[in-house]
Formats: sequence, C-alpha cells, structure tokens
Amino acid sequence: MFTRAIVKKISKSYVDGLTTSNLGKPDFEKAQAQHAQYVAALKQCGLEVTVLNADEEYPDSTFVEDTAVLTNECAVITNPGAPSRNGEIIEMKEVLKQFYEKAEKIHAPGYLDGGDVLQVDKHFYVGLSTRTNREGAEQFAAIQQKYGYETTIVPLEKFFHLKTGIAYLGNNDLVVAGEFIDHPDFEEYNKIVIDEQEEYCANCIRINDYVIIPKGYERSKKKIEDAGYKTIELDMSEIQKQDGGLSCLSLRF
Ligand code: GLY
Repeated sequence: MFTRAIVKKISKSYVDGLTTSNLGKPDFEKAQAQHAQYVAALKQCGLEVTVLNADEEYPDSTFVEDTAVLTNECAVITNPGAPSRNGEIIEMKEVLKQFYEKAEKIHAPGYLDGGDVLQVDKHFYVGLSTRTNREGAEQFAAIQQKYGYETTIVPLEKFFHLKTGIAYLGNNDLVVAGEFIDHPDFEEYNKIVIDEQEEYCANCIRINDYVIIPKGYERSKKKIEDAGYKTIELDMSEIQKQDGGLSCLSLRF
C-alpha cells in the first residue's frame, strides 16, 4: 500500500531536456496538462501528493524517480548518471527529510538512477545502463542488504532504464517487454508480455487498487485487465518525447 507521492512540475526548459527519442519537441502546455492529469490519477489511487515547483535550471527534473529510492525503512539518495541532472538530488534530499529519518547515499564513482531500480517485495533488481554503473549498483545492494533486501544486478542490452521495459504489479506478476521477456533473472514470475509495437506500455505503475498505464495500448491494457487489475489510462505523448514514462514522474511511498 502506498500513501504518498512526490512529483515536480514541468519547467519551460523541459522541452530542451535530454532525450534519445525521435518523437519531436514536446509541447510545453500539453506536457503541463498531462502532468496535471497524472497528479489527479495519483490522487484517485488514494495518494497524498507533494507537488514541488518547477525548476528551470534542471530541464529533466520532473522525472523525480531518478533522484531517490524509497522503502519502508529508508530513503536512498541516488547519484544520477547524467551530469546535467546530478544537481536534482539537492532539493530532493531536503524534501525527503520531512518523511524519512534515515537517508543513505550513493557516492561517486558510483552512479545510479532510480529508473534503473525495480523493487519486487524484498528483492531489488538494478539495471546497468548509461546512467547506472556497477559501482553504483553494488553500493545500492550493500545499503539494502542492511535492511534485509536482496539485490540482483541486471546488465541492460537495449532499454534506456531498467523500468523502461519492466514493471512489478504484485502477486508475482511482472509486465515485461523486449530483452526481459525471456531473461533468466525473471523466469520465476508470471509474465504479462507486452508486444514490440506496444513496448512503451511496459512502464506502468501499480498503485493500490489501480495500474496506471499509458493511453493507446489496447492489447496491453486488455492483458493487464485480464490478469485482474483495474487500469487508469493517461495520455503520455509529451512525456514520452523526453524518454519519460509513468514511473519516472513520481516517487511513491
Ligand atoms: N529525459 C530524461 C532523462 O534523460 O533522464
């Protein structure tokens, strides 16, 4: 059960943020509207939402998930792997003091983005990507071991972040796409397999009674609903243009 989320409003500089997609420049006003709908959906799921102000200095800072990993026991402040994003952790570290007595930290030469961390109950999977290196993943594993969590490190082949291609819904159910469909590390789970054409839908989020999914992925929606979950669909077009997904836009705890 989650009770809270932290989000951060989209800045005007968002349209000039980092991206590897070739989907074009986002429309700022449309992105703002999509973000507002996202916040409304979090509230519909029963969360109390802390909304941080936009920060023009950090174009990608609406993607708050990369700045921290939160469990019942502690907050881990990450060390984001993109130099233009690294300073985003300064504000988040302060904000999290309201909610957590214990804060741990990933230190250079270790780098880690929260988007590379998937929690499955007492087990973490950490992707090695262009943003997360082995040193960062090993520091993270050592921190979580103190609190009774195991960690598996998963080198990524193609996905941008680990959670670009995988989501945990609970009940041993994983949503998987691309390189994770037949990945040996995920053999033990029930898999909801996302087609290549709908790969963006693999980044969905289970929050309490709902799974929030991106709008327009009918086959994936049906598979998730057939597995017994209620869905909320959100238009994510302007978020996808900057390599963002549903999980990236919030910290949920
Ligand atoms: N645009 C999101 C990121 O590159 O981290």
